[in-house]
Amino acid sequence: MIIGENMKLLKDMDINNKTVIVRCDYNVPIKDGIIEDDSRIVKSLETINYLIDHNCKIVLLSHLGRVKTPEDKEKNSLKLVAEHLSKLLNRNVTFVSECYGEEVKKTVMEHNSGDIIMLENTRYMDLEGKLESGNNPDLAKFWASLGDVFVLDAFGSAHRAHASTAGIASFIPSCVGLLIEKELDNLKDLINVEIRPFTIFMGGAKVEDKLPIIEKLLPECDHLLLGGGIANSFLKASGVEVGTSLATSDEELLAKLKVLLTNYQDKIMLPLDFVYDGSSIMDIGPMSLENYARVINESKLIFINGTPGKFEDEPFAEGTIKLLSILASCGAKVITGGGDTVNALKKFGYEDKFFFCSSGGGATLEYIANKELEALKCLE
Ligand code: 3PG
Repeated sequence: MIIGENMKLLKDMDINNKTVIVRCDYNVPIKDGIIEDDSRIVKSLETINYLIDHNCKIVLLSHLGRVKTPEDKEKNSLKLVAEHLSKLLNRNVTFVSECYGEEVKKTVMEHNSGDIIMLENTRYMDLEGKLESGNNPDLAKFWASLGDVFVLDAFGSAHRAHASTAGIASFIPSCVGLLIEKELDNLKDLINVEIRPFTIFMGGAKVEDKLPIIEKLLPECDHLLLGGGIANSFLKASGVEVGTSLATSDEELLAKLKVLLTNYQDKIMLPLDFVYDGSSIMDIGPMSLENYARVINESKLIFINGTPGKFEDEPFAEGTIKLLSILASCGAKVITGGGDTVNALKKFGYEDKFFFCSSGGGATLEYIANKELEALKCLE
């Protein structure tokens, strides 16, 4: 997947005075009506400002969360995001409380060059028939009919070929935005890796979601250091008693983890000591950190996804704080990605301490594992 060669960039497009549909990833954490981390919104500003400078009418699309029941609609509305974006840009952002239909068409028609319109969560169209996630061509055609050019700038969702990320590209001239261009450029060392030793640290809750990716990453990396629920599941597979810790109970999955532990015993590293809450593992201990530090300090390229412990709770934050400090002083090219990782970097003041912080979580992992992303393939 080579930027510029296989896919068009914003600078290649004739966009002056055009209506441009931009798919952003505004899937941001919102709690009690507050956006807890706006970095994805901030990172979308470059493309939006570029389009404003080219006198475009801008129609913004994004998903937020997953919409499976009518109740999911309210808690996953993009209204707050539109208000926040308007503050960041210091200009009006018209929010349309629907993402499909006549009202949407009319609102877009009524606006002028330089205006910004944000439609409601694209996954509202998943309620009946999964039209967005199923990449329904009629829905993609409708969104495409609203503009002249499509810009995919949702790096965090580029591993999903949905109607709003991939489908629209079949109907109008399309390109990637400045955020995606920057992501692909900064992540390129992680694809067909030449800088070695290459170490990956992976934390996170569920091994179920990550297993296919772990299987692909293991042949690529030199070391895989594990933490969190993923490490617990591997420990359980190796016969360690993990008590009530977050870990899989799926016997088939445990058997697969055991095979990986045997086949990649020289690469996979598991924590050796722990901080507990009752009989649940909540963080890694000092011996594990020392062990991980040895490998990290010998590495030249490191990718971090997830944290070793439940850093949100102070008694279990030490492992995460110490790991970040080891990474910040190791001298390797360190690249980070994933929602939890970004939160930890922000919380402990490490936001600017690493080479690059990706706006993708699952997308970044899939990109490293598969060397391509589903939505980008559709743009090529
Ligand atoms: C993310 O936060 O990883 C992206 O926005 C994708 O969200 P999804 O996993 O719900 O598709």
